[in-house]
Amino acid sequence: MPNPARLMQLALAYRSSAVLFAAADLDLFTSLSQGPRSVESLAESAGLAVAPLRFLLDACVAEGLLTTQDGAYANTPMTDAFLVRGRPAFIASGMKFAEDLYPAWGHLAQLVRTGKPVVPPESFLGDDTAKTRAFVYAMHERAKGISAVLPHGADFSGRTRLLDVGGGPGTYSMSLVRQTPGLRATVLDLPGVLEVTREILADNGFADRVDVRPTNYLTDAFGSGYDAALLSGMMHRETPENCRMLLRKAFDALEPGGMAVVSDVFFDDDSKTSPPFATYFAINMMLMSDEGSAHAKTEMAAWMRDIGFERVDIRPMPPPNPHTLVVGYKP
Ligand SMILES: C[S@@+](CC[C@H](N)C(=O)[O-])C[C@H]1O[C@@H](n2cnc3c(N)ncnc32)[C@H](O)[C@@H]1O
Repeated sequence: MPNPARLMQLALAYRSSAVLFAAADLDLFTSLSQGPRSVESLAESAGLAVAPLRFLLDACVAEGLLTTQDGAYANTPMTDAFLVRGRPAFIASGMKFAEDLYPAWGHLAQLVRTGKPVVPPESFLGDDTAKTRAFVYAMHERAKGISAVLPHGADFSGRTRLLDVGGGPGTYSMSLVRQTPGLRATVLDLPGVLEVTREILADNGFADRVDVRPTNYLTDAFGSGYDAALLSGMMHRETPENCRMLLRKAFDALEPGGMAVVSDVFFDDDSKTSPPFATYFAINMMLMSDEGSAHAKTEMAAWMRDIGFERVDIRPMPPPNPHTLVVGYKP
């Protein structure tokens, strides 16, 4: 008889996510940032119920999110770095976005039965203000890590005008402008998203070197005169036909010698079976968008060559960054 332990583990795995989300919602990691505290002290200062808080803290210890000694609880180095409000590597908005999608994953069978997203696709892109803010800040936090290493895969030095298609929070634009003397950037995105982007650009002091242009990238023109185009984390929302159309529009917006960089989560090859991260990513996109999925890096490279880009190259990013770059140049 096989052992059913793995089935039990999978059936209850959502509890681990719920523990993380609850602890982040209650901002427990920020409350512990000044040093270890007892459950009574945490409960009193935040007005929480002692008995369930104790179990939540113990569950956090079990999940490797906290440690405990002499009856006091403390952050681990990981939670201290990433889940304390105000720290440079804070990523709790990303946790919040994952939490927002948590109910959608509970309807995965419905997606497979109907072939339709289970949450309204536009709710994160302007229709629901709170969800849109959480989404844009989640993209910002995630992109902070990825954008810092982007120049390792694509050299922007000497480039002066960057077109950031579906640039969301503008984090890549800010990072590239910061690292590249003489570079200015334009972020194209939907109007509701750009309201939050303007706030992020102003807060970070980039409003003068990064501008935003409300654009539906499927229907509106991209403009011209750019020597670099970035298409990051947005091709996975689009059909192959639309990807080719977007690559064509980027090609037309570039000057001769212009560089196009597609950065995304990709399947390894056209069989679209690995890595598993891409499979989960594709499901996630299907749960929340009409055309979302994940493409193969090999098909993206082929589309770029078909359109006329030359020296097309696939460049992995260093782990734990899940993105790969597909880079090409306009002749
Ligand atoms: C996952 S985000 C990626 C943001 C950013 N490029 C990054 O990599 O962090 C996808 C972006 O595409 C934008 N987007 C989706 N559909 C769009 C459309 N039709 N026109 C313009 N932007 C769109 C979304 O608003 C969102 O900001």
